[in-house]
Amino acid sequence: MTYAKHSTIYLKDYTAPAYLIDKVALDISIHAGFAQVTARLEVRRNPAAGSSAAAPLVLNGEELTLERIAIDGAVLASDAYTYADERLTIAAVPQSFVLETCVHIEPDKNTQLSGLYRSADGYFTQCEAEGFRRITFYPDRPDVMAKFVCTVRADKTQFPVLLANGNPIAQGEEEGGRHWATWEDPFAKPAYLFACVAAKLDMLEDHYITRSGRRVRCAVYVEPGKLDQCAHAMAAIKKSMKWDEDVFGLEMDLDHYMIVAVGDFNMGAMENKGLNIFNTKYVLARPDTATDTDYQNIDRVVAHEYFHNWTGNRVTCRDWFQLSLKEGLTVFRDQQFGMDVHSAGVTRIQEVRGLRAAQFPEDAGPMAHPIRPASYAEINNFYTATVYEKGAEIIRMIHTLIGAQAFRRGMDLYFQRHDGQAVTCEDFVAAMQDASGMDLTQFKRWYNQAGTPKLVVSSRYDSASKRYTLGVEQVFPATAYEDRMANDGLPQARGPYHLPLVVSLLNEQGQELPLRLVGESAAQGTQRTLQLREARQEFVFEDIASQPVPSLLRGFSAPVVLDYPYSEQELTHLMAFDADAVNRWEAGQRLACSILLRGVEIIQKASNDEWIPAGYVEAIRHLLASAFVPGGDPALVAEALQLPSETYLGEQMEVIDPDAIHAARLALRQHLARALRQPLEEAYHNLACAEAYSPEGEQAGKRALRNACLGYLAELDAKDAEEMVSSHFEQAGNMTDTMAALSAIANLDVPARHVILDSFYAKWKHEALVVDKWLQVQATSRLPHTTADVSALMGHEAFDIRNPNKVYSLVRAFCGANPKHFHAADGSGYRLAANVMLQLDPLNPQVASRIARCFDRWKKFDATRQAHAREQLERVYHQAGLSSDLSEVLGKALGY
Ligand code: TRP
Ligand code: ZN
Repeated sequence: MTYAKHSTIYLKDYTAPAYLIDKVALDISIHAGFAQVTARLEVRRNPAAGSSAAAPLVLNGEELTLERIAIDGAVLASDAYTYADERLTIAAVPQSFVLETCVHIEPDKNTQLSGLYRSADGYFTQCEAEGFRRITFYPDRPDVMAKFVCTVRADKTQFPVLLANGNPIAQGEEEGGRHWATWEDPFAKPAYLFACVAAKLDMLEDHYITRSGRRVRCAVYVEPGKLDQCAHAMAAIKKSMKWDEDVFGLEMDLDHYMIVAVGDFNMGAMENKGLNIFNTKYVLARPDTATDTDYQNIDRVVAHEYFHNWTGNRVTCRDWFQLSLKEGLTVFRDQQFGMDVHSAGVTRIQEVRGLRAAQFPEDAGPMAHPIRPASYAEINNFYTATVYEKGAEIIRMIHTLIGAQAFRRGMDLYFQRHDGQAVTCEDFVAAMQDASGMDLTQFKRWYNQAGTPKLVVSSRYDSASKRYTLGVEQVFPATAYEDRMANDGLPQARGPYHLPLVVSLLNEQGQELPLRLVGESAAQGTQRTLQLREARQEFVFEDIASQPVPSLLRGFSAPVVLDYPYSEQELTHLMAFDADAVNRWEAGQRLACSILLRGVEIIQKASNDEWIPAGYVEAIRHLLASAFVPGGDPALVAEALQLPSETYLGEQMEVIDPDAIHAARLALRQHLARALRQPLEEAYHNLACAEAYSPEGEQAGKRALRNACLGYLAELDAKDAEEMVSSHFEQAGNMTDTMAALSAIANLDVPARHVILDSFYAKWKHEALVVDKWLQVQATSRLPHTTADVSALMGHEAFDIRNPNKVYSLVRAFCGANPKHFHAADGSGYRLAANVMLQLDPLNPQVASRIARCFDRWKKFDATRQAHAREQLERVYHQAGLSSDLSEVLGKALGY
């Protein structure tokens, strides 16, 4: 069928489902080349659906071949229903009845990886957001919640493991060497949480005793032979279960909690009830195959999916516009978990960096949307940094505004009111408001307004009255979202946000001053959460003995751009003394940013590095030394040594000049390496670790700093760099160190480059996730032949365009993390991306669409680059039969 569903769906058009499903019995029988799915649905008219006239029953269905359809046992005549435009419509149905359908599907041909599909070791499902309709006819929307029983049948030798949601209740064998298993999920759920698996897998098993004493079987299923890479994921499951009990009082509610790892998967992982399906990337880890960051990501993704069991599954979304209800909240929860089990400061810094790298540009680009958009064409395009990461910031602000205790009461109330329901973002905010007593009406603007607000802060110190005044103005940039809404006749009002601005004031010694606001009788601590509600506000502090340096937006208390005229001296002061880890880091970033942007301007005229101030080099020298004093934190220093990314710097410019940005950043790195060679070398040697590998704690922090030093030292002249990096590579005892060497050598035009890349590939070519790393370092190399290398690698045996991880590691890394080459002035990077999109769209539109997003900021470049980008965007956009995924993203990019 070539039907394209390119129409826009609006939140305002939401209506309750006309029919509800109480029970579903599925029978999925997998054969060579096809599967037969029988569904028995217990349907009844929805009493809350408004219209009393008998509405037709409309079910979703995509790429299904209908073999049989019956109501209450009677087969329907062919004129009693229609199946067109991906909808099955039955005009006349009773008040309540049993609908039986039998369909034929072809999972082996399912390259979209949505619905039931084949991967190397068997058959897997992915139903969020709208994949269940690719398995059987169903009202595939999250506000229809039913109890599921599922029988899976397949060949016993080829697919010995048969799984579905809930508890196993029966199993057996049938003719032809086949077997079957029946699973029953005691909880009603929306179809997007359905999962089943038929595969050949190894299993690691353990158990967890909940605090009320129930025994939960925990299992991790992986490709045969990979059991030695499962221990960390299993530990992460148990840590997550304990944490959710301790922090939120939430227990696991099933007897079985299973994770299945699959190598072909569009996203990170999926929270299907009791049967999470994971990208192998977030399960498999061994010290020699996974980096410290991989280990941390596994913790976070396992926690995320586990936490969804309450925030997503027990309480789910009424419709897909409410996606942030479960995603923002669950990301917030996995972030809190990350801060508790790893370093709070480092974790938060990484989140802020990530938000500004991905979400701020999204807000400033053609796909801008609030965390709850008012419309979409393709829901898969809205699993975005805005819905996830900004969504988490919105929850974090509620937490900051009402405090941890009220937030916990709000969560309790939310579950008390809505357990087992499909609800809206309003319902969540209402629970928080009722539990805290704080009026959150104005706060809800965060759900409806797109764009990153700017806080323009000014300060005034009056030595006579000893008063210090902070003035704060909220400024809203125009967004593409408002334009789109206005075109749709849904103009968006804009108003000031309610947000927490956490501040402290530092004196010359770097100490925090006691803070007493005008009208208060005594100082209340040295850090205050100021509540902003108005477009302009002033805060006056009393008894301030001398001009302080303000530490503003501590902990990144709101997702805004902070505009305050810091001097370089003040930034150096904060960099040295601010007790808030985020702001200490941020001061260094601001300093580096202003130096680099000055450098960009100078480089655009002439090439020299006289723009690098000696004071900055000294600040970095002190920063490095601070890792070695008692109480020093190498992990935090490693973060602070990372200069702002090329992409972030580009966002700060009117017109992005990727070549000058690259040159300035490289010049600063080389300058620091030369000026600080001795302390960098000393640090590198002092931080060597002799202990047995552990991905966590002090050891990982030291490794991060040591590898950051190596990165700088690799910027020295090529001969020295080659020697140093080669010896690091040879001595590496874990993948973290190996990758530090590999990414450094990938940037060097030296003989050892090929030797190291080749030996790495030869050693790891059978370990898919390690091959991904090999592709990625080559895709992000700064060497001049990188674009040609990426094209060539697409033809390498290691590459497979059908595998999302491969596409993400090679193509998306190139387009998203190599601005110098992707935005090459001759248009070669854009052409490469467009070719990939054209090839990928018919196979896997979700993945094609993620490549398309790399063009979001094309209008921020010069006219030559824009012309090249437009040509490629148009070329793809006008391709016949384009998916709704690509047509939405490209159409918005082109302004259609
Ligand atoms: N709900 C999943 C998560 O956040 C996201 C997800 C997994 C997804 N697979 C998907 C979303 C496929 C869209 C399509 O954990
Ligand atoms: Zn999620």
